[in-house]
Amino acid sequence: SIVSPLLRTGYHFQPPMNWINDPNGPLYYKGWYHLFYQYNPKGAVWGNIVWAHSVSRDLINWIALEPAIKPDIPSDQYGCWSGSTTMLADGTPAILYTGIDRPNINYQVQNIAFPKNKSDPLLREWVKPGYNPIASPEPGMNATQFRDPTTAWYADGHWRMLVGGLKGDRRGVAYLYRSRDFKTWVRAKHPLHSALTGMWECPDFFPVQVSGQNGLDTSESGTKYVLKNSLDLTRYDYYTVGTYDNTTERYVPGNPDGDYHRLRYDYGNFYASKTFFDPVKRRRILLGWANESDSVTYDKAKGWAGIHAIPRKIWLDPSGKQLVQWPVEELEKLRGKPVSVSHKVVAPGEHFEVTGLGTYQADVEVSFEVSGLEKAEELDPAYAQDAEKLCGVKGADVRGGVGPFGLWVLASAGLEEKTAVFFRVFKGGSGQHVVLMCTDPTKSSLSPGLYKPTFAGFVDTDISSGKISLRSLVDRSVVESFGAGGKTCILSRVYPSIAIGKGAHLYVFNNGEAEIKVSQLTAWEMKKPLMNGA
Ligand code: FRU
Repeated sequence: SIVSPLLRTGYHFQPPMNWINDPNGPLYYKGWYHLFYQYNPKGAVWGNIVWAHSVSRDLINWIALEPAIKPDIPSDQYGCWSGSTTMLADGTPAILYTGIDRPNINYQVQNIAFPKNKSDPLLREWVKPGYNPIASPEPGMNATQFRDPTTAWYADGHWRMLVGGLKGDRRGVAYLYRSRDFKTWVRAKHPLHSALTGMWECPDFFPVQVSGQNGLDTSESGTKYVLKNSLDLTRYDYYTVGTYDNTTERYVPGNPDGDYHRLRYDYGNFYASKTFFDPVKRRRILLGWANESDSVTYDKAKGWAGIHAIPRKIWLDPSGKQLVQWPVEELEKLRGKPVSVSHKVVAPGEHFEVTGLGTYQADVEVSFEVSGLEKAEELDPAYAQDAEKLCGVKGADVRGGVGPFGLWVLASAGLEEKTAVFFRVFKGGSGQHVVLMCTDPTKSSLSPGLYKPTFAGFVDTDISSGKISLRSLVDRSVVESFGAGGKTCILSRVYPSIAIGKGAHLYVFNNGEAEIKVSQLTAWEMKKPLMNGA
């Protein structure tokens, strides 16, 4: 691979250099959004983990501060791993995080830290009380799979938090801990929830409103709740929507098969995510990590690895079955002059270029209208449950009935390189239509040796009107897409070798038998925000 500075992201979160992974403890405090994250101050590979710290007024422009938490007490001396923040009743934010307390074995305990000076809106210094750790593995628990405490919630005189774990060799567990004073924590006999999925990293648990787009604070009670965990085995984030009450202390997924049915925040490269409640705009915001998909050698050569997704507002879909996600509105401040195309028909096998802007760093919104739904291909039942496999055999270049249609982004002028983000409509078993959304990076680069998996998810939308929308945030080596208004999302990392900088083009394509219409397309070149001083 080539090491091109043109592949470094322009508006996605990242520090000037080195390795980053999980977002940690996001919160809003005295006018500032705070984001901590897993960071290696010494290189572009995982290790030496501290909580790096950045602050922002708008979740888009970021200022880097000194790391907030570094290994310096016995219970975190070999690493400060992931965790969360909780706002206490008196307005004090508290950090709960995992510490590694012995060498060469990832023995995990949970620690707590408080701001040294509560009147500092930047929360620059944190102190770790002498009573750490506040939770340690007990006999019978897997001490090397016990981590990532959640934001705590308060009800009936108790704080409660979850810690991810593994029981036996297959049961993923969300251990439940209780405390009256936020200092002494006791594990509840029963976990909040568990399933035979493998280890649960980075659990996240929060209430959602059943209507509207507002979020709830973590201690407010909701009719519905969301439980997310990051599966070490597959490296994806899965969630269920269900019910919970503080008396039973059990979470019950609404779909009994939910733990295995596998709803995902994102069907692409997106892991170890975490939400927080933004009291200013009363919304819940989702942050996630996307790693590199090139080799470690290349990561070292470029000196950095890992980015975060654009913060997404999330809310419950009116169906109650899934969440909907949308980039925070503040992102739109980065948009330059719009370029628009309306009412343009794309005949079978045709494509057209969107010109008049630099498209290597762009925000593209499209409304499509398909006619001829009767031309949809039959859905092979063998793939009905596996979007990724389906997209693997029905990629962007495989002619279809209705679709594939969508965008070629980060495409070279001669189309030798292109990343396809598209839809494909199938006829399902009982006559209804099934919509597939894919990101196909197989042609994204002429560079050898890249990992270029095809990502895909089904879109739970009614296509009978023929209408479907797509938004893609293109950022040099990131393509972050939102289908049908945010019902299905796919983030991909790609490393073009010629479709970089001014060499990157944007097209709309239709490889189906049915005509499609671009009712409206608007594309904006994106400005570069303040990004941690880089
Ligand atoms: C998830 C994770 C967490 C852990 C952290 C270590 O990516 O493995 O479970 O706390 O990263 O950096």
